[in-house]
Amino acid sequence: MTVTWKNTVKHTIKRGIHPYLNGAWAPMFDEVDASDMEVIGEIPKDIDGVYIRNTENPVQKPLGHYHPFDGDGMLHSMSFKDGKAEYRNRFIRTEGFVAEQEAGKALWTGFVNDAALSTRPGWGAQEYIKDSSSTDVVVHAGQVLSTFWQCGEGYRLDPYTLEQHGAESWVPEEGISAHPKVDESTGEMLFFNYSKNPPYQHYGVVNKDNELVHYTPVPLPGPRLPHDMAFTENYSILIDLPYFWDAEKLARGEHVPTYYPDMPARFAILPRFGNQDDVQWFEAASTYVLHWMNAYEEGDEIILDGYFQDNPDPAPMPKMPKNAGKLMAGLDQHSFQSKLHRWRFNLKTGEATEKHLSERVLEFGTFNQSYAGKKARYLYSTYSKPGWFLFAGLVKHDLETGETSELYFGSKRYGSEAPFVPRINAQSEDDGYLISFITDTKLDRSECVLIDAQNIEAGPVCTIILPHRIASGTHATWADGPAIREAQARKKGHAS
Ligand SMILES: [Fe+2]
Repeated sequence: MTVTWKNTVKHTIKRGIHPYLNGAWAPMFDEVDASDMEVIGEIPKDIDGVYIRNTENPVQKPLGHYHPFDGDGMLHSMSFKDGKAEYRNRFIRTEGFVAEQEAGKALWTGFVNDAALSTRPGWGAQEYIKDSSSTDVVVHAGQVLSTFWQCGEGYRLDPYTLEQHGAESWVPEEGISAHPKVDESTGEMLFFNYSKNPPYQHYGVVNKDNELVHYTPVPLPGPRLPHDMAFTENYSILIDLPYFWDAEKLARGEHVPTYYPDMPARFAILPRFGNQDDVQWFEAASTYVLHWMNAYEEGDEIILDGYFQDNPDPAPMPKMPKNAGKLMAGLDQHSFQSKLHRWRFNLKTGEATEKHLSERVLEFGTFNQSYAGKKARYLYSTYSKPGWFLFAGLVKHDLETGETSELYFGSKRYGSEAPFVPRINAQSEDDGYLISFITDTKLDRSECVLIDAQNIEAGPVCTIILPHRIASGTHATWADGPAIREAQARKKGHAS
């Protein structure tokens, strides 16, 4: 194995007793490049591209209570070509991260605390927290875009070298939320943002050359907390869900997410380049949804799959202080009971119908992205360790036959969201691999695993041992090498 140490960032955080600063969530501070790593099995020669995962990896001793969604953004990448793999990890040099490095301490508090704890004006819908760009990651126009769940700048990096290109210049004043969506068939990226100020939400489209070509308000009745959006070939889907900051408390400056079970879930469907007058609103059963899976059009209907929470307001976990119990329940899929669910919206009649597709507790799903916006047959979800924000395994759903198959990562082994990696010249929708980083807390090491998507029960066909143990992380993406190279060549062509 060849490892090149690049940097160790200044850090003041201690592990302490916090459940999300220990074990699989223990933060790390080194940045390295590695190649010729130990491999169990064989690195497939029939994949070409890069797997990138974002990570909430805190660096500074927190001002107030720590929540894992506050952690500093770190990207871990594994690139593949001709049966060889290279690993890299880098912190994302956000404005806040750099300022805290210079100060040698935290300057901003986290989202569960009061504004008074922050020493400078901040970012996010709460306006006083740090934009750590630690939530989501996509590759668009040949570059990485990392994003923050409460809206932020959006940071660009090179997908292969993780060279930092800084904050994206087209991002509107209102910021960009996590979960922008890339439509591989057009190269466009669709995004939204939300805030405490009217009209409370915007939606936009960036073209394949990274130009903002559409930006419109999609007004909400007040401040809301949408986390994800969806799209079909012709439409975009935004939401107004009944889980948001209590208005009276918000007027006093307190940000207390509250569930309103008597209010419906509302869905805004608009043409990709539509404006607020084109929005058709639908109402469905009350719930909260963190993540959507796919959406597509069928006749007069828009079909949307995602994870419906049966219990969006779980009771704090027992036998621990109330704040800790609330934090633990809010991160536990088995507490909020997220289940794969299908909504159908009839654009002609305005009617919405819905049902669970599975009674199993699941979240953080992926599917073959060349089917995004079109009808997909296979969905891949993660299941978690009860009580914990830790992914214990994967479940594959075949929506045509109703069959499922699954893979357990093993005792004290926790994975990440596992994107689909198409085989070069793939012959079918599931002809490829699922890829994930796994942290093994028993062996005290991390791995990158590739799993045959047509036979996930067989376990990894290839395990690459990482040069260091990495913190548990969530959202991840796969980007095909030829698409990255084509986009980067096009950009160079435009520039010359
Ligand atoms: Fe998310």
